Amino acid sequence: MMRILSIETSCDETSVAVVEYVEAVALPNVTQTTATQIDIHRATGGVVPEVAAREHVQAIIPLVDETMRKAGIVPEQIDRIAVTSGPGLMTSLLVGVETARTLAYAWNKPLYGTNHIAGHIAANFLTHENIAFPAVALVVSGGHTELLHIDKADSGTLTYELLGATRDDAAGECFDKCARVLGLPYPGGPAISKLAAEGNREAVEFPRPMLNKPGYEFSFSGLKTAVLYYHRDNPEVNLADVCASLEAAIVEVLTKQTAKAVSALNAKSVLVGGGVAANTYLREQLTSYIDVPVYFPTPEYSTDNAAMIAAACALESDLDDATKNLWNVKADPGWEVTPR
Ligand code: KG4
Ligand code: ZN
Repeated sequence: MMRILSIETSCDETSVAVVEYVEAVALPNVTQTTATQIDIHRATGGVVPEVAAREHVQAIIPLVDETMRKAGIVPEQIDRIAVTSGPGLMTSLLVGVETARTLAYAWNKPLYGTNHIAGHIAANFLTHENIAFPAVALVVSGGHTELLHIDKADSGTLTYELLGATRDDAAGECFDKCARVLGLPYPGGPAISKLAAEGNREAVEFPRPMLNKPGYEFSFSGLKTAVLYYHRDNPEVNLADVCASLEAAIVEVLTKQTAKAVSALNAKSVLVGGGVAANTYLREQLTSYIDVPVYFPTPEYSTDNAAMIAAACALESDLDDATKNLWNVKADPGWEVTPR
């Protein structure tokens, strides 16, 4: 049995989990508690970092208490503490990292700084068994749009190679910014997706950036500009049609770039992660367009959550060096996905 207490505060969700791996059972038991700040950030149309950090400070200790109570455990029963140490907003990361460090110090536990992107990918391992490697991972959130090549070493540790990322805005950021342009609430992804379900995806021909270029990069800022001008020049056009056409453009780019990576690398599976993985149309398109298994985390593990951080920590078997000194774990807002 290995029991991990994990903490995630990289953006605007304060999340704490107790994740228990029982020997010879692939899927862990998870107890997770999350405090979302969405209502607060809705008022400003996006996350104000200092406001987010203050909210994390208020929420974090009560959440640790509540999660441990729900899991029915005391500190002596914890084997590791894992915390998101990057990438993310510096002030938000600091709250989680310093809380985790304090708990690790007080309870004399090993502390692991864990990568947030690796967490979004590892979220799939909380609910899916027998995932085949090599895999291609598509991480799509408000802060990231990345394609990665993932393999599994004999030790069980995952290796990550970045294939391509966005040159400018992330896919979720594009949803959020376009929603703002269209007068829809924050976060934009769910709002656009809901309206899109009633619209015509072929009503407006928005650009499909990067599809004709070699490699695996993305670019979404031009799409946002296209929506801005289209909406300004055609105010009478049905909003559902604009949303459906925008969603079609974003999803087509994500699907085709992922499919290209799968065939070039002969991947055996696709692992999708991040808030945009909750998008129904993206799920449908990836699944029908790609002929290897495509895995999505369940909704509670798609958006930012602590259980995925424990899962990423559990997938790193060779962690000794990092834990020799509790003070080594540092908040690192620009940490690339390669774990350590
Ligand atoms: O992973 P996440 O919770 O936080 C970040 O690390 O960014 O992702 C949040 C992003 C937001 O941009 C939100 O608009 C988007 O995920 N999102 C969606 C959907 N649900 C959340 N985008 C499209 N369709 C959805 N259903
Ligand atoms: Zn995230």
